[in-house]
Amino acid sequence: MIRQLTEELAELQAKGLFRKLRTLSHYRGTRADWEGKELILFCGNDYLGLSRHPRVIQAAHLALEKYGVGAGAARLISGTSDLHTQLEEELARFKGKERALVFGSGYLTNLGILSALAGEKDLIVMDKLCHASIIDGARLSGATLRFFPHKNYSRCDEILRNNDRFGKKILVSDSVFSMDGDLADLTELVWLKKKHDALLVIDDAHGIGVFGEMGQGVVDGGVKDEVDAIVGTLSKSLGVFGGFAAASAPLVETLINLSRTFIFATAPPPVLLAASLESLRLIQEDPSLREQLWQNVERVQRFLTGKGFKLQTLSPIFPILIGDENEAVRVSEALLDRGILIPAISFMRGRFVMEALRAEDPRCGISWQPAGSRTRWSFWTGRHGGIIPCMGFCRPGDTVIPSRLP
Ligand SMILES: Cc1ncc(COP(=O)(O)O)c(C=O)c1O
Repeated sequence: MIRQLTEELAELQAKGLFRKLRTLSHYRGTRADWEGKELILFCGNDYLGLSRHPRVIQAAHLALEKYGVGAGAARLISGTSDLHTQLEEELARFKGKERALVFGSGYLTNLGILSALAGEKDLIVMDKLCHASIIDGARLSGATLRFFPHKNYSRCDEILRNNDRFGKKILVSDSVFSMDGDLADLTELVWLKKKHDALLVIDDAHGIGVFGEMGQGVVDGGVKDEVDAIVGTLSKSLGVFGGFAAASAPLVETLINLSRTFIFATAPPPVLLAASLESLRLIQEDPSLREQLWQNVERVQRFLTGKGFKLQTLSPIFPILIGDENEAVRVSEALLDRGILIPAISFMRGRFVMEALRAEDPRCGISWQPAGSRTRWSFWTGRHGGIIPCMGFCRPGDTVIPSRLP
């Protein structure tokens, strides 16, 4: 058995798909140490830098003193503290929904919501590029699962039209696609939901704190009333850890009663909820956090457009298409040699996701100019976290040259 596992691992390695852990120390925002060397991190989702904001840290300190470290039990046993209730009320107000429910993580939220809403007689239709947690949630539900090609809403229409025999129909999409950084067309999705009398679930994990006048996310304005359930995470722009769903009262009651990842898991620790409450306040009170992020995004876009890139993203996530798994790993390692951490995240698609640097960092610009190639890629990013990379193609043997941005 172990020999078989070893062979399978060797196969992954040969294909450039082998994942390994890297232990970092002395985290300080967008930097950390690794093997005696300082790294600049381009791989997180702390878009606004709130994980280290003094007010968030202070809120966590106070809650730690008052509540201790762990919640001690599941929510339905004795794990629901006043902080759980307060955060859920705030999240419901923030997302413009009747109720909200906090889960242990965004991943658990998607697992919990889809498996609670759908069963064997139901149909779940989703964009092919939906996050893994949505796919896993759909699988757990036992419902029939159909994918439509990325943002191909006429195909989605066709699938819903041709599958009338099912009970409930559930339409699911990310709002901001986590690997490609592009946005779903929510107007189309709402139209399809109405046309086919489906439930619409939108995962706004990368939208919250980043989009919307007050950071409410992509699911905002008129659209939010038509979205039956909004999934969010406390782990990205809020800089903490946990997940939530915001929806109507009956839908949230359904989750409390049927969602196994809610019922059978220890409640998220109050200390994390106190920190999330403070992050939520900051997101609404301090638009400069978001402005800084978007200034950085625009600066990168201008720079890259000026260099001839065709940018396909309007979010702080810029995918880099390398085109070959082993090459993606090689590029990642070449960058690591230069103190830049950009793990090849989605190997199958040869893509990187990166996190922010400091604007004043001398290594803030990195350009990669493959000799004889018509393409190259570069990235730059700013003060508060955020994923700000770009796209391009390279060839085996190309070199990565750190340089300053103009
Ligand atoms: C779109 C999307 N949904 C859900 C999740 C899971 O959230 P969490 O990290 O809080 O488990 C992620 C995380 O990468 C994500 O990108």
